[in-house]
Amino acid sequence: MATQAFEKLGLFYLGRAVDPQSATLSSDYFLYDARDLVTHAVCVGMTGSGKTGLCITLLEEAAIDGVPALIIDPKGDLGNLLLTFPGLSPQEFRPWINEEEARKRNLSPEDYAAAEAERWRKGLAEWDQDAERIGRLRSAADFSIYTPGSTSGIPVSITASFAAPPKEYLADPELLKDRVASTASGLLGLLGIQADPLKSREHILISNLLEQAWVGGRDATLGSLIQMIQSPPIARIGVFDLETFFPAGERLQLAMLLNNLLAAPGFATWLDGEPLDISRMLYTSEGRPRMSIFSIAHLADAERMFFVTMLLNQVLGWMRSQPGTGSLRAILYMDEIFGFFPPISEPPSKKPLLTLLKQARAYGLGVVLATQNPVDLDYKGLANTGTWFIGKLQTERDRERLLDGMAAASALAMERDQLISTVSGLKQRQFLMHDIHEEKPALFNSRWALSYLAGPLTRAQIKQLMQDRRGAAPGPAASQEATAPAGPAPQGAPVQAAPDDRPQVPAGIPQYFAPLKKAQPPGVRIIYQPHLYAAASYQIVDNKLGMSYSQSTSHILPLSENMTSAPWDESSSFEARIEELSRQIPQGAGFSPVPTTILQTSRFDKAQKGYLDFVYRQAQMTLWKSGLFKTTSQPGESERDFRLRLQQAARERRDFEMEKLRRKYAARIGALQTRLGRADQRMVRESEQYGQQKVQAAISVGATIFGALLGRKAISASTLGRATTATRQASRILQEQGDVERAKEDRQAAQQQLQALEQEMQQEADELARAFDPQTETLQPVIVRPSKTDILLRAGGVVWIPFAQNPTGGMDPLW
Ligand SMILES: Nc1ncnc2c1ncn2[C@@H]1O[C@H](COP(=O)(O)OP(=O)(O)OP(=O)(O)O)[C@@H](O)[C@H]1O
Ligand SMILES: [Mg+2]
Repeated sequence: MATQAFEKLGLFYLGRAVDPQSATLSSDYFLYDARDLVTHAVCVGMTGSGKTGLCITLLEEAAIDGVPALIIDPKGDLGNLLLTFPGLSPQEFRPWINEEEARKRNLSPEDYAAAEAERWRKGLAEWDQDAERIGRLRSAADFSIYTPGSTSGIPVSITASFAAPPKEYLADPELLKDRVASTASGLLGLLGIQADPLKSREHILISNLLEQAWVGGRDATLGSLIQMIQSPPIARIGVFDLETFFPAGERLQLAMLLNNLLAAPGFATWLDGEPLDISRMLYTSEGRPRMSIFSIAHLADAERMFFVTMLLNQVLGWMRSQPGTGSLRAILYMDEIFGFFPPISEPPSKKPLLTLLKQARAYGLGVVLATQNPVDLDYKGLANTGTWFIGKLQTERDRERLLDGMAAASALAMERDQLISTVSGLKQRQFLMHDIHEEKPALFNSRWALSYLAGPLTRAQIKQLMQDRRGAAPGPAASQEATAPAGPAPQGAPVQAAPDDRPQVPAGIPQYFAPLKKAQPPGVRIIYQPHLYAAASYQIVDNKLGMSYSQSTSHILPLSENMTSAPWDESSSFEARIEELSRQIPQGAGFSPVPTTILQTSRFDKAQKGYLDFVYRQAQMTLWKSGLFKTTSQPGESERDFRLRLQQAARERRDFEMEKLRRKYAARIGALQTRLGRADQRMVRESEQYGQQKVQAAISVGATIFGALLGRKAISASTLGRATTATRQASRILQEQGDVERAKEDRQAAQQQLQALEQEMQQEADELARAFDPQTETLQPVIVRPSKTDILLRAGGVVWIPFAQNPTGGMDPLW
């Protein structure tokens, strides 16, 4: 099918409306307003009712519209999203068919593949879709299958799960507490310990360790946790001292358990893969949307729980660092929620999921959950869910349960009896949609999926699909785990000469002392090492771009005796503000000898001037300019991030303009509909009197552009309602008059106007769709830099960095 306007206007083609009275399929497209998804959706139906098929079509529509998704796949069906064959040829289907099924039907695999290809082509055609649309889907997004703990797909590293969460967490104690608790529960679950967060010593200890590290801005790793469990950097837990609370010998057992996990042969795959970086899993490096499928069918229950919890925590962290939006930004889909969101117990996944359901709306993240069984859901947690897709349910009891739950969760706009009877009559792939943004529930049949629904993929099949992708993923995570402790170690080997008791810096050279950022190990003397230090601030002002940007920067270089000039290009950036540095000599510490060559006045002055030149070069940056949106990227914003921002801005603008368009046309259509209805009524009467065939009553609007773009909202709510009352009135008047000829003419005129209006709206909608497509724009690079007079030296001299000698004689930075 040719690109339809709705594809670019945030309307998801989910299927066709079903007439509730006759249960027949109408020709009207059933379009779902993507914005409604920000209040989340739940899909319930018995096995085989077509939930996954429906949700796959929803994800396909999202991809076509440029909305990325994170897809949690406990059963293995979602990998089918990669089975898209733009040729619709038997050869393309052949590797993915169910050979068992072919045998059962007495067909050769080739013949069965041909039959399947034909079935798919026919199925698609019945829903006005074709190979071209499959091509569009494929090129709209990047599709990947991740397999945590396995290398069949792309493995995922969980290292990030123990890293300090983004700074938004430190400002929100509740959020931090939840993250600490769910990480600890998830990890203990993996060790086979079902821990009660309030009672379990293990849980309390690990929570305390994680919290202490994170609040201090430090990442934890499994390795560092093992170390910390043995010699915790905390002396007390609550009012108890640590030894009473959890004696060393018993702590060792916990550390051993964790160590065994880390040392287990298969475990490396949990650390080696692509880091669990949500932004990267939602967009490619060029800013294209991604559909990232996390296949967890191969994992044991505890591992699944652990992974899902860690993933949800990362999603929360990513989400909180996004600016707010009213438009759909991304989707989180979970194909089978059983066990992860139960009504009574509290598995580790439940807290982060609850928080997501409560907060994600403001960030444009739509959560979609599917389940077979109405009892698997915590309805309290679903209190604000905007959309319910109800499929065929097995028993009367299931239907009752679901409706009870829903009624508790949201206001139902339909009478219960009516709902029950509608739900009882549902067939496979038929769903009753209850959307709080619409006037009343609507019945529809899911459209044919563009993806070949082959059922759960085997590991070998996943391997085949991800062949080119495995190993391509950068795996910095593993090395990170191995090279702990990571820290901003200043360059150069620490000077090992005997330390002095006082720092010996030549007179006239300012000196600064860096604060301790790590605890001083007991009984170890701190040795300070001298570094050449300079700090500057600068401003970039560009009136044409309307930008004014200020920045401070500082750098250090390890001092050495043979240094006659300062090679600032080799310096490391120093992440402390001048105000954080002390001018007081610390007591009881040692100070390495100071190489003085570079500190002689003229050299030192030159080194400082050299620093300003260095900053001038460093401060140059490239911004990106969008002609389409008449805006420029922020300093420090990458081209990719800028594109992502533009995409969301475009989406918001488009949704806003769409709403305006809807309003404008709804009113005009309403008036014409009323006229049409009136005319129809007259003709109906006429035909009754003369015993002729019934004239078809009100026109079907669903198949027209009105139906597509106005949706059920505008049509059903404001216009059709009014039209029917008007019709009733009209018929009363007509009993006396009965002017059929005039009615016919009137009808014709109204219909013509409606057609003209339709064309007009179609045009406006097309323009709208074209106007907001940031994907394809070539962005212009703009280079900006400070003028030399706008760079100021703020400080310069020697900065002392603290180190502690470790047992092997090396020096560890405490900074
Ligand atoms: N949109 C669709 N297009 C084509 N076929 C479909 C579609 N939806 C469902 N089907 C067919 O119906 C079968 C069952 O549907 P589906 O797998 O979606 O059920 P389900 O509700 O997810 O069941 P379960 O709870 O067991 O996972 C699919 O294997 C497929 O053959
Ligand atoms: Mg399913």
